[in-house]
Amino acid sequence: MAEIIPDLRGIPKTRAYAELHAHGEAILEGIADEIAGMATISSLVHNAFGYLWTGFYRVVEPGALLRVGPYQGSLGCLEIAFGRGVCGTAAAERRAIIVPDVEKFPGHIACDSRSRSEIVVPVTNKKGDLLAVLDIDSEHVDSFDEDDQRGLEKLVSWFASGGRDR
Ligand code: SME
Repeated sequence: MAEIIPDLRGIPKTRAYAELHAHGEAILEGIADEIAGMATISSLVHNAFGYLWTGFYRVVEPGALLRVGPYQGSLGCLEIAFGRGVCGTAAAERRAIIVPDVEKFPGHIACDSRSRSEIVVPVTNKKGDLLAVLDIDSEHVDSFDEDDQRGLEKLVSWFASGGRDR
């Protein structure tokens, strides 16, 4: 099993995500458990890129409420309503949101005042239901772009992939 998390800071993002994806697939081989998947993906992304906060908000009331799931970093807010903040907006609209500067996103929820930019990507299960959102916060402005979105969407496609009984 690939146990060491590579340091992917400073290498081209498409290569970084390809490496991370390969790691994730190897580590999660044979695993069907969603929480194990969230914990593993949080740890991989967080430590490979050195972010401030990386984790999942799970849908606990479809269309209404998200609750924090496995994450890495400082304390996260426990619950976020659909439509609130970046996570709740991404969940309500089922689309990825890149926030280059959190101070310019009306309604941004500041769980950690050091957060400067953020990306949120929806996570769907095999049936196509919204399972969670993946939220990443960075201490630097403008940390995320479409390469991150594509790379993260591919990583979380694990939750919708076939053959895992999900
Ligand atoms: N900033 C997020 C809240 C979650 S924390 O950053 C971990 C938001 O506006 O939805």
